[in-house]
Formats: sequence, structure tokens, C-alpha cells
Amino acid sequence: MKKLEQLYEGKAKKVYATDESDIVIVSYKDDATAFNGQKKGTITGKGAINNKMTNNLMQKLEKSGIPTHFVQELSDRETAVKKVTIIPLEVIIRNISAGSFAKNYGVAEGIVFSQPTLEFSYKNDDLGDPLINDTHALALGLATEEDLASIKRYAYAINDQLKAFMKTIGIDLVDFKLEFGRLPDGSIVLADEISPDTCRLWDCETHEKLDKDRFRRDLGGAEEAYEEVMRRLTGVE
Ligand code: TMP
Repeated sequence: MKKLEQLYEGKAKKVYATDESDIVIVSYKDDATAFNGQKKGTITGKGAINNKMTNNLMQKLEKSGIPTHFVQELSDRETAVKKVTIIPLEVIIRNISAGSFAKNYGVAEGIVFSQPTLEFSYKNDDLGDPLINDTHALALGLATEEDLASIKRYAYAINDQLKAFMKTIGIDLVDFKLEFGRLPDGSIVLADEISPDTCRLWDCETHEKLDKDRFRRDLGGAEEAYEEVMRRLTGVE
């Protein structure tokens, strides 16, 4: 497979065309942003970690019946994925209160929910990714009712799998964000990434934050936290 021109550059990844019309190459950067790009920085080594972690988890999810865009890891930072049309909804699942949930509803971080929550944000940087509900998404034509049903079913199934797996490596899966894409045949697959950029990961014992909140909140030790997650992830293989 040959890498061709750059199609797109996002905040954390670049996407390249290939000589195969249904495949693109994703290249993960060390760039980190928060608060809709207002805060910018670098987490050295994060690109390679997020690439490998995403691929590792997507392969596990595929084995348990979740369709994903993953095709093949090409190098430390680059992966071939199926070309999809991204559904412009960020799907957020929460198991424990934190972040915007704690802020919006005036509760402490760390409340363990009896069942997970699911919410959508409209993926639109100009609008600051506002919260959106199903009926709004339908009204805007962002997805169909069938799409929303598949997305929710997959998101809860992914939560069950990831939460159980993370527990085995001493991590509480607090919350995370998923994105889904549509293949040319109309089916929905998991796309984007699953990494410490897009998940809150707390050590089960110490509750230490092992994710991008270290960067967002200037806690220090972001690089070490990403490396620690990767070390645990590859240690159990
Ligand atoms: P929140 O508490 O800030 O709404 O974030 C919920 C989860 O979604 C958290 O694990 C971080 C992730 N997330 C992203 O991946 N991208 C984003 O742009 C935001 C705001 C959150």
C-alpha cells in the first residue's frame, strides 16, 4: 500500500490517502490540545502510544464482535484504516462522575454510577461541540434512527468490554469518547481512537489520573502516565 497526499489534519492526527480507494492512513501526532484547541502543547511520545493502544483495543473489540475501521498497523505512529464518513456525533459513556458531568450537575468527581450514562456531543469545533440529544441529531440529519440505535448498542457493548479489560490492568474506566463512521455499504463501524486522550483512566488503588487530564489540568507527569498505561496494556499480552 502506498501513502499518497495528506487529506486532512486534525488536532491530534493527520489522514493520508493511499493507492487503495477504500483505505486511508492515520498518523498520530504528539500535539495535545484542550478546551476546543484553546490550550496547546505537546505530550512527547503520545502519538506512538495512542496509535498502539487504539490498535490493541480495537483488535480486542473486533474479536468480541464490534466492527471497527482498523486494518493494519504500519509503524509506530501510522495505521491503515477503512475510509469512512465520520458521523458528527461524539459518543460519551460515563461510569464514574468526572469532568463536564461533575461541573454541569454540581457533583463531586468519583461517584460510581449504578449504570453507565450515554450522551452525544455535536462534533463541530465552531460551536464548541455542544451537547445534543437524539431528536436534535435526527432533526439536523446527522444520523438516522437506525444509526443511533446501532451506535448506542455498540457504545454500551464497548463499555462492558473495555471496563472489564481495564480492571485486569488495575485501571478504572471512568469515562470515554467514541466516534463512529459509515462504510460505503451503509454499515456503522467504530472509528477514531481509544487512548488516554479520549478516556479518563484512574488507577484502581490510588485513583491517580493516568490520562489527558494531567495535561488539561496542568498536573504534570502526562508523559509518564501515558507510558504507564501502555506498560500495563502490553504487560498482559
Ligand atoms: P468531559 O467530561 O470533558 O465531557 O469528557 C468526557 C470524556 O470524553 C473524557 O474521557 C474525555 C473525552 N473527551 C474527548 O475525547 N474529546 C473532547 O473533545 C472532550 C471534551 C472530551
